[in-house]
Amino acid sequence: MTTNATLQRAFSDPMFTAIGEIAEQMQTRAFTIGGCVRDALLKRNQSKDIDIVCEGSGIELAKAVADQLPNSGKVTVYKNYGTAMVRVGSYELEFVGARKESYQKNSRNPVVEIGNLEDDQKRRDFTVNALAFALNPKEFGTLIDPFDGLEDLDKKVLRTPLTAAQTFSDDPLRMLRAVRFATQLDFTIDPQTMKSIRIMSQRIKILSQERIIEEIHKILLTQIPSKGFLLLDELGLLQHIFPELCSLKGIEEVEGQRHKDNFYHTFEVVDNICQTTDNLWLRWAALLHDIGKAPTKKFNQKVGWTFHGHEFVGAKMVYKLFKRLKMPLNEKMKYVQKLVFMSSRPIVISEKIVTDAAVRRLVFDAGELIDDLLLLCEADITTKNPQRFETYHNNFKIVRQKIIDVEEKDRIRNFQPPVDGDEIMKTFGVGPCREIGLIKEYIKEAILDGEIPNEYLAAHAMMLKKAEELGLQPKQNTRE
Ligand code: CTP
Repeated sequence: MTTNATLQRAFSDPMFTAIGEIAEQMQTRAFTIGGCVRDALLKRNQSKDIDIVCEGSGIELAKAVADQLPNSGKVTVYKNYGTAMVRVGSYELEFVGARKESYQKNSRNPVVEIGNLEDDQKRRDFTVNALAFALNPKEFGTLIDPFDGLEDLDKKVLRTPLTAAQTFSDDPLRMLRAVRFATQLDFTIDPQTMKSIRIMSQRIKILSQERIIEEIHKILLTQIPSKGFLLLDELGLLQHIFPELCSLKGIEEVEGQRHKDNFYHTFEVVDNICQTTDNLWLRWAALLHDIGKAPTKKFNQKVGWTFHGHEFVGAKMVYKLFKRLKMPLNEKMKYVQKLVFMSSRPIVISEKIVTDAAVRRLVFDAGELIDDLLLLCEADITTKNPQRFETYHNNFKIVRQKIIDVEEKDRIRNFQPPVDGDEIMKTFGVGPCREIGLIKEYIKEAILDGEIPNEYLAAHAMMLKKAEELGLQPKQNTRE
């Protein structure tokens, strides 16, 4: 299909012609621009978010569209940005007036003025995001491409319309967007643009953490995030966002003993987990699973390199990192923290002949996270030795089967004590006290050790036995 036919098809909904007609009545020109044009040409799955630029007031055009088109919602105006949003059917349209920047003699601050389409295209981040599709009746379907964005799309390259230094000074987030688009679209970044990013990398420090994290999320949600993270590193951006990851770099050797490079290993694990899950937070756990290794690294004459307690240290670092990056300190953070904390547990189990009790404890401690934890551990297998690769994976198959067997018998996941604190208090006619806790703990341990099954009668008998040891006398029968 030709470029023209592809675009005509992407914008064939009668709504687009109608918007062009409304713009014409208002004596302005309107265009779809940015991601929607780019993605249509790349034949990526087309989003319903459409950016529309007009040579006039975007807000007025939005109001007229909402007035005249059926299935329109209310207009939301963002005065500070000079933009307005309207839903029409399943589309979400964002309108903006074309702008240009001019610099006044005595000030370095730009003054934003009304401009024409080309002024606006110049101010955009990449040539492939500056392609505009005309909507007015006389020119409907014309592609306006003053910066050869189409050629760059073909060559799969990200290039700025103006000099990279100008474009990135306008908004340093664009340096991260370059990496994000390169990863999402599998594009390269033009060498001159790369050079400018390297020079300007520390400018990302002025950005809000929220904007940075939005880009990191998008990189993490791609199929091969390592491409993005290694690019961030190469461009000097990663150290400003994740110094903890940069500290994992390098291989040290003492007395002929080396450890693996945990920096590259981390991104391999991230790529691996992306093959099995779209869960953003599980991907975060893969990214952070080894961050405790830099501060805990030691060389020991007898055993070589050790990272004792790295899971514990790493879990604490997850909290600090989330806080610094202004990510919510909610259950998602706790989820990542718990996975980092437990990241070595199944590995230990998989390495030896494992008892039911060890499996039961693992399932108890992991709770609902057991499946994700196993996925993380399997993704952690990055050995290049095919025999070891197979052995490790087989060991996990065995662990998985053991978990199924133990679960069938004992239902440890979402463990609810078969005899609870209330019942113990009622049985012995006491209020909350230390003994209640001790009895509960004793029953739980007996179940996890496999001494008794996870069942009411066995637990009840155990309660009576432990209570007697503690000097408590039953007051009433609880099973009436
Ligand atoms: N844009 C820009 N500089 C930015 C952000 C956005 O020049 N810092 C312009 C680009 O032309 C971009 C358009 O605004 O194409 C819309 O931005 P956005 O919705 O963030 O990105 P899309 O290109 O639509 O891509 P995606 O939706 O995949 O993020």
